[in-house]
Amino acid sequence: MLKEKIKRKEAIIGVIGMGYVGIPLTLTFLKAGFSLVGFDIDKDKVTALNQGISYIKQYPAKLFSQYLKKKKFSATADFARLADIDCIIICVPTPLTKMKDPDLTYIINTTQEIAKTLRKGQLIVLESTTYPGTTEELVLPKLEEKGLRVEKDFFLAFSPEREDPGNKNWKTADIPKVVGGAGPKSTEIAKELYQSAIKRVVPVSSARVAEMAKLLENIYRSVNIALANEMKIIADRMGIDIWEVIEAASTKPFGFTPFYPGPGLGGHCIPIDPFYLSWKVREFNLTTRFIELAGEINTRMPEYVVEKTMDALNLQNKPLSESTILILGVAYKKDIDDMRESPALEIIKLFQEKGATVLYNDPFFDKIPLVRKGRFNLKSEVLTEKLLKKVDCVVITTAHSCYDYNWIVRHAPLVIDTRNATRDAREGRRKIVKA
Ligand SMILES: NC(=O)c1ccc[n+]([C@@H]2O[C@H](COP(=O)([O-])OP(=O)(O)OC[C@H]3O[C@@H](n4cnc5c(N)ncnc54)[C@H](O)[C@@H]3O)[C@@H](O)[C@H]2O)c1
Repeated sequence: MLKEKIKRKEAIIGVIGMGYVGIPLTLTFLKAGFSLVGFDIDKDKVTALNQGISYIKQYPAKLFSQYLKKKKFSATADFARLADIDCIIICVPTPLTKMKDPDLTYIINTTQEIAKTLRKGQLIVLESTTYPGTTEELVLPKLEEKGLRVEKDFFLAFSPEREDPGNKNWKTADIPKVVGGAGPKSTEIAKELYQSAIKRVVPVSSARVAEMAKLLENIYRSVNIALANEMKIIADRMGIDIWEVIEAASTKPFGFTPFYPGPGLGGHCIPIDPFYLSWKVREFNLTTRFIELAGEINTRMPEYVVEKTMDALNLQNKPLSESTILILGVAYKKDIDDMRESPALEIIKLFQEKGATVLYNDPFFDKIPLVRKGRFNLKSEVLTEKLLKKVDCVVITTAHSCYDYNWIVRHAPLVIDTRNATRDAREGRRKIVKA
């Protein structure tokens, strides 16, 4: 029986999608003592993993080497090997189409691959963030096409990923895991699987509840960040420092959770996931007003940063079109090598459209690869005193911990700070403009 096999850690786990979510999850199960196969359609990633080469900086190669040596881990692009797996966990991307509708092609393709070799006694768990109903309305019918039945022959559940890349305080094993099955047996077996590697598992009554819980978490962030961004604009107009306001409000021991303004939303989750719900609720003749409003406010932030920069340059009699701007940080948040949906890219694009010369530095990116927002053809500059003095303005878009902000403010002629990174800079504070 699968449950017993999991208990004995003899169940073989397969993780599909070896990305920012699949990799830490894989390491967590390996650490717990399971054997695991990583599946990915990207053959370069498969080759790298099998050679013990890491492609995500936070997870160095040495973390995998012992498991490769002991043959507890291998990676493959051969999906026929899914037949040998007991517990299959899906961590593939869930982006939006150009029209901001859910792009479910990755989930559909993966489900079709699983269906080809689906056998009795397998557990399938979807972890990719998606709208409520995906597991039961989209994945389940495809898996049952050949006659096997859920709860009787195989098990199916949804368990949202809560990875927070770059967060050193919370490891995957310490983050409580919500699990909702397509039926009670599926919930029970999925719970068994996760509790053998993760400290706390939270079973819920259905896959839909688990799917909705993940969306609520991300919508909550998006809405509260939008509120912080709106308050930032208001406070700025009133001559009040919003960062000081948030710090003061945060001393309230109850009823207030701080959220911070910034140059706009980034990453694979917050700018995207809320729209999965907006799309789904159209089916119920409902609208998601908070989501739309938050999206509107947050999406405008890159423009706001550019306007604040233009105003600050104007005060120095420098038109933007004749200015050189140095962007610090293109990752979507500090200390990580991920630039998906990064607001820095939008800001660069806006500056370029207005005729400015844009340079950038980011210790995590030597160059900006081809991204959804286009080709930038920029290489990371070496950050020197000479460079800081040469440019007209420095815009801090990502507050990487390795930057010496004191030194940056000392040498740059003007600093636009979107992250309050210069809060402790001692000299040259009059050169700082918060945006
Ligand atoms: N990155 C995060 O911080 C985070 C946090 C919580 C939830 N999520 C969710 O987790 C899911 C995965 O996100 P991610 O950041 O790991 O994405 P990612 O792009 O880093 O990784 C996805 C991997 O899946 C592979 N892939 C794509 N199609 C495939 C297929 N058909 N078969 C096998 N592999 C395939 C890709 O090559 C890639 O390696 C998304 O739904 C995302 O919303 C991400």
